[in-house]
Amino acid sequence: MAFPPQFLDELRTRVPLVSVVGRRVKLIRKGREHQGLCPFHNEKTPSFTVNEDKGFYHCFGCGAHGDAIGFEMQSGHLSFTEAVERLAAEAGLDVPKATPEDRQRDQRRASLHDALEAACAFFERQLRTAVGHEGFNYLKGRGLGDETIARFRLGWAPDSRDALKKALMNAQCPEALLIEAGLLKKPETGAAFDYFRGRVMFPITDRRGRVVAFGARTLGDGQPKYLNSPETPLFHKGATLYGLAHAREAARETGVVVVAEGYMDVIALNQAGFGYAVAPLGTAVTEQQIEELWRLAPEPILCLDGDVAGQRAMARALDRAFPILRPGLSLRFATVPAPEDPDSLIKARGPAAMQAVLDAAQPLIEVAWRLATAGRPLDTPERRAALEKELMDKAHTIADETVRWQYVAAFRAKLKESFRPPPRQWTRPAGGGRPGRFGPPPPPLRGADGLLPGAGRPPPPRPTAQAQEWVMLALVLDHPRLIDQVGERLGETAFVDKSLDNLRRGILKHLGAARDLDAGELSSHLRSDGFAPTLDILLDANERRGRAVPGYGSIEDARAHWEDVFHYYTRTYRQADSSEACAQLAQDGSQASWVRFEAVKGQESVESGWDGEPGTRGGK
Ligand code: UTP
Ligand code: MN
Repeated sequence: MAFPPQFLDELRTRVPLVSVVGRRVKLIRKGREHQGLCPFHNEKTPSFTVNEDKGFYHCFGCGAHGDAIGFEMQSGHLSFTEAVERLAAEAGLDVPKATPEDRQRDQRRASLHDALEAACAFFERQLRTAVGHEGFNYLKGRGLGDETIARFRLGWAPDSRDALKKALMNAQCPEALLIEAGLLKKPETGAAFDYFRGRVMFPITDRRGRVVAFGARTLGDGQPKYLNSPETPLFHKGATLYGLAHAREAARETGVVVVAEGYMDVIALNQAGFGYAVAPLGTAVTEQQIEELWRLAPEPILCLDGDVAGQRAMARALDRAFPILRPGLSLRFATVPAPEDPDSLIKARGPAAMQAVLDAAQPLIEVAWRLATAGRPLDTPERRAALEKELMDKAHTIADETVRWQYVAAFRAKLKESFRPPPRQWTRPAGGGRPGRFGPPPPPLRGADGLLPGAGRPPPPRPTAQAQEWVMLALVLDHPRLIDQVGERLGETAFVDKSLDNLRRGILKHLGAARDLDAGELSSHLRSDGFAPTLDILLDANERRGRAVPGYGSIEDARAHWEDVFHYYTRTYRQADSSEACAQLAQDGSQASWVRFEAVKGQESVESGWDGEPGTRGGK
């Protein structure tokens, strides 16, 4: 019986080949493949390999070869139908019943594929003739090389009502088929005519690279700028990602997939070496697209323009993603500094600037928090309660229980942190003395047994390291001259927070090159490097209030504050060291562990007082 090809595709993606084979063969991972003893012939050394990427197994000994369905057939001595039914049952998929109508529809789809393929080849040819020179020059003018044009199969639709119709229509490819494929348009009265006229053609493929639709860009001011194929039996806009067929391999190799906004962004990213770029088709990403992205990488990066539309798209993507989040699967968000998009950014500043934008991508939780709190005063109980309710409602849209409770906990921790009473304005006592503090003293670090908590377990996370890093950078951004006193230590201290660490290095780079930059110059350099999103947060007045960064007029005060934060920051590290040393000692009791333990303890006993962490450690 003929199963619909989409069903078989779905089945193959749902049942990983390695797990199907792994039930019968003990597999060992070797680079990108798995190896084992062939179940189909007798052997002592493994010549049987499984390639999950390509979706097939192969035995170099006996030549057995096939995909998951083939393996099930061969090893279980099943018919194709039986193998499919068995795998489908395991994957929880309903097996579609093939009716005569189904068979007819399959044939129809095959013919639609053929028609679209023929149209694609036609448009490609036109681009290389005199008819298409305008389109060709346009693409060249946008910086695309011949190879890129060929790779993405870009083309030209002649400015004619029937050029395509004349070229394609014949007995195998009747008018009705071309209409169904979205290539011709049938007006109420009169003859069907070419749907795409006088436009540069961007073929849209399915994940296997078969043409299913087109995006078509006008060269003038005509509307719409991009005309897309209508929905057809092969093309569902919300389920398709532009560039997916190209991106799959690069994404699988690197574990990265980037979602840009438009066709040209994908192509420019590709040409600049970011092979794992895709784009939705003029809509916000859908759940289906997110699921598709998760097949390629656990944390796709949505790379959005820094304009209002981009920010709105971010909010919408977030709403779509929340309900379907699962353990390990999330999204990250990168913002291209306005007014650029990836295409123009790469052109203006090169791939490194693009990479910096991607490196600064923020996790979903941070973006959700920022969107919920931006520009929102939290100065009364009612306002704080409103925020709390909103966030908890948001967390409860998550269907997966584990992820849901993680979000509830993460939001609560953030709420707690941001509702902390504003710290006393700190001024350093003239004659030295006790340093100021950022909150109430924390609970004692040691348990009654005198041991640090976490002995025998990994060291506890350090929830405020990031906050301290944040403040240290904010102070240097305000007073670049601080670098004279703190530069060396800042240079030696790798930050925990990756995007703050990138910014740290960016600051050092610019101040290293020119020590006399003022605050404005420094931040504008950093913005050109793609740090705008991080800077926007660091320089935002509300954020600063929330994190107790006073606007110091004098560099002396800023420096004192910096020293203070750095002291507690590094102290936190020393303590983490110490609890790690303690844990190790508890575990192996070796001489080496003793030596290490003594060393850290010795260092720690020199320090006194509390650690400046506002009550975040003992808590829950
Ligand atoms: P943009 O107008 O930002 O596209 O729309 P772009 O790729 O930057 O365009 P150019 O060629 O560089 O000027 C982003 C995406 O939205 C969809 C397309 O997918 C486009 O790539 N879009 C836009 C449409 O579908 N129709 C339109 O009329 C405009
Ligand atoms: Mn553009």
